[in-house]
Amino acid sequence: MNTRSVVIGCGHYLPSRIVENSEFEATLDTNDEWIRSRSGIERRHFAADHENTSQMATAAAQAALDDAGLGADDVDAIILATSTPDLTFPSAATMVQAQLGMTRGFAFDVQAVCAGFVFALANANALILSGQVSRVLVIGSETFSRIMDWTDRSTCVLFGDGAGAVLLEAQTGEGTAQDRGILSTDLNSDGRHRELLYVDGGTSTGTVGYLRMQGNQVFRHAVGKLAATATTAMERAGVTAGDVDWIVPHQANIRIIQGTANKLNLPMSQVVVTVQDHGNTSAASIPLALSVGRDRGQIKQDDLLVMEAIGGGLAWGAVVLRW
Ligand SMILES: CC(C)(COP(=O)(O)OP(=O)(O)OC[C@H]1O[C@@H](n2cnc3c(N)ncnc32)[C@H](O)[C@@H]1OP(=O)(O)O)[C@@H](O)C(=O)NCCC(=O)NCCS
Repeated sequence: MNTRSVVIGCGHYLPSRIVENSEFEATLDTNDEWIRSRSGIERRHFAADHENTSQMATAAAQAALDDAGLGADDVDAIILATSTPDLTFPSAATMVQAQLGMTRGFAFDVQAVCAGFVFALANANALILSGQVSRVLVIGSETFSRIMDWTDRSTCVLFGDGAGAVLLEAQTGEGTAQDRGILSTDLNSDGRHRELLYVDGGTSTGTVGYLRMQGNQVFRHAVGKLAATATTAMERAGVTAGDVDWIVPHQANIRIIQGTANKLNLPMSQVVVTVQDHGNTSAASIPLALSVGRDRGQIKQDDLLVMEAIGGGLAWGAVVLRW
């Protein structure tokens, strides 16, 4: 018998403002056709001035709690993956804790940029397997619109805002790949590549800064690293591509998503794709895809999922989970 971290609820939040590709044509030398063909993105949501990362995270977390039929004080911990916290500190996770009305347990942020949700899931799983907690809210929430250089057409058209959350619960499994819950995780980073994707602000500048990216260089790393981490995680879980029902990839670029699926020998009909509607929402993209994929009727109980993500650092990883 093994302890497993099982998803018992999920939810998401998207700000109401939807920006179509064509809206950028008024201020930038770009067009819908370029953005769509190079990235697969057609539109994205942007937070309103009064909305921030913790509020969106709270809305997604509340939806996950409602989905599970539980209250905030039934949860032992909150792990929030974000690179765009409301303030440098306290953590956005503690703000969510307060906004949910949760008066016990603990909360902290994880920062691994676009791989953040995978890193947060792995940390939550480790806390559950070590017996320290029984229920953990794992959230990804981002307001990347606040770190965009609106004069840089090579980045500002690619990102969006939103939040997604899952509620994990310790349950007992048989110790086989048929168990529900997290079956394996694989985390990686290589800090030598920090110039490829970073924000040029922080305590060293006294400003929040703007996202800077060498997109074609990130692209070159992405497919190989994503396929490798997904393969490692599947080997650890004792499953093969033939066992997988859904790839739930980080939603940065449709060509990266297609290239990775191809390398893993899985058809696009088994990939949850939301990049056309959300753009790249960094750490929020996988939990958004989980929640939207579940709502669409794609992801069903007992389906075998492989999640994979890469982002600034570089940091990348994968999680194999039976829903
Ligand atoms: C960003 C990305 C879509 C660019 O596509 P690409 O095919 O690599 O294009 P390049 O960066 O080589 O740029 C090609 C040309 O398009 C231009 N261009 C860039 N953005 C443009 C835009 N929004 N509209 C029109 N032209 C644009 C460039 O200036 C360049 O022009 P040049 O050849 O005259 O210099 C692509 O590299 C990508 O998606 N990379 C991965 C990024 C990513 O997912 N990052 C997040 C990981 S978490």
